[in-house]
Amino acid sequence: MKEIRNILCIGAGYVGGPTMAVIADHCPEYRITVVDIDARRIDAWNSPRLPIYEPGLDQVVARCRGRNLFYSTDIPKGVREADIIFVSVNTPTKTFGSGAGRASDLQFVERTARQIVEYAQDGKIVVEKSTLPVRTAQALSRVLQANAKGLRFQIVSNPEFLAEGTAIQDLDDPERVLIGGTDDPEGQEAVEAVARIYTHWVPREKIITTSLWSSELTKLVANAFLAQRISSINSISALCERTGADVDQVSQAIGMDSRIGPKFLRAGIGFGGSCFRKDILNLVYLCEHYGLPEVARYWESVVDINDYQARRFVEKMLEAMFNTVTEKKVAILGFAFKANTGDTRDTPALAVCRQLLAERASLAICDPRALDNARQELGDADGNVSYTPDPYLACQDAHAVVLLTDWPDFQRLDYRRILDSLQKPAFLFDGRNCLPHQALFNLGYNVYPTGKPPWTHFP
Ligand code: UDX
Ligand code: ADP
Repeated sequence: MKEIRNILCIGAGYVGGPTMAVIADHCPEYRITVVDIDARRIDAWNSPRLPIYEPGLDQVVARCRGRNLFYSTDIPKGVREADIIFVSVNTPTKTFGSGAGRASDLQFVERTARQIVEYAQDGKIVVEKSTLPVRTAQALSRVLQANAKGLRFQIVSNPEFLAEGTAIQDLDDPERVLIGGTDDPEGQEAVEAVARIYTHWVPREKIITTSLWSSELTKLVANAFLAQRISSINSISALCERTGADVDQVSQAIGMDSRIGPKFLRAGIGFGGSCFRKDILNLVYLCEHYGLPEVARYWESVVDINDYQARRFVEKMLEAMFNTVTEKKVAILGFAFKANTGDTRDTPALAVCRQLLAERASLAICDPRALDNARQELGDADGNVSYTPDPYLACQDAHAVVLLTDWPDFQRLDYRRILDSLQKPAFLFDGRNCLPHQALFNLGYNVYPTGKPPWTHFP
């Protein structure tokens, strides 16, 4: 197999962007080009203000851009020159037709395969980087191999496990790198070529090679297991609120069992992000497709509990606030799906805000990074919504302060100053359990944590 020199990544998003930057950083001898159909995105990658916010990314891009990392919209040239192509295009849940609401929409992946076939002049390794449902490789392979030029393509699955907000750290020091390929010698050679990229900085024992199908399925299962832990603890948070137990105490105690472990047991308003819901729904679709309805229902319940948790949060607010929020100002602290990102894809804050707007509350939304996205997400919403980066302004004259994202910035606010500017009685709902509840109660707030008894001044 010819030596790898040129790497192309198709799709300059949350996965492709950071991944290629880190590969470029560790592999100065490779020339890496990232292409996208979205010219505005590519312009942003070439500008001082990158299109995504990720701690540490600016520095990596500054080191590599123009050296061995290039951003371009010239897909034909990129494909022609590449020895290896990573496919990192988006795979949203289908919104129409067969499998709507569950199956992945593979139109972007298929289009990419057709672009590769059209422009390639020699055979290449094509790496699936986007999360794809099991057996996508087969479809990808059929489109690629059906070329009239007699070219041979090798398909490799190399799912990305990075989490947003810690992408650079996760890429620099991954817990594992998973590479799946076909069993034949060409397939194994292709797997080895991809593994060689990672050996520049990842210890060999952390690089796992499997079959294509196992690799594709592992990515879905990893996300489903993580999401399942969150839904499990969120379901228990509901029981804690009814019984007076404290969900954080329960999490801490069960997490000390090394078989359970302490991570991903924080109760809150539910999980968000571009992966969890999409991947579970995909898993559900696959189980249904393969005639396993019981398994499908099991995984679907993880998503059901997530939706229930956001609904339950608003119902708790209503009950506390005398069964009405109509025309009351509610300050929303945090709209991103988690801290340290501007990403709002599938953020549970959206469900909470929409429900509050349906109750005719007026919302003042504050987020350090996600206001532009929040404006887009709520662009079609009826009702009174304002946006501000200033939390004190958001809280001015509000009836309730609602914390929806665990940004450290919100933990450092002057809550005495905020209290002075609130309507009384002052309500504070902590959807992420990251504020000092008793201290806030002592200041004068009526505090409603998640999965714990409330702290109220009412008789
Ligand atoms: C996730 C996976 O972690 C990553 O491996 C995969 O590649 C992509 O999907 P990400 O979507 O960036 O990454 O976010 P993650 O940090 O996993 O958090 C997902 C959601 O779960 C967030 O909304 C977060 O607030 C929520 N969460 C997480 C909880 O509610 N409780 C927890 O204990 C942990
Ligand atoms: P992810 O979180 O999986 O990285 P994103 O939506 O952030 O998803 O990024 C996917 C990127 O792929 C987008 O910038 C989109 O414009 C790009 N894309 C989709 N289809 C194609 C295509 N056929 N050719 C090039 N880029 C594409």
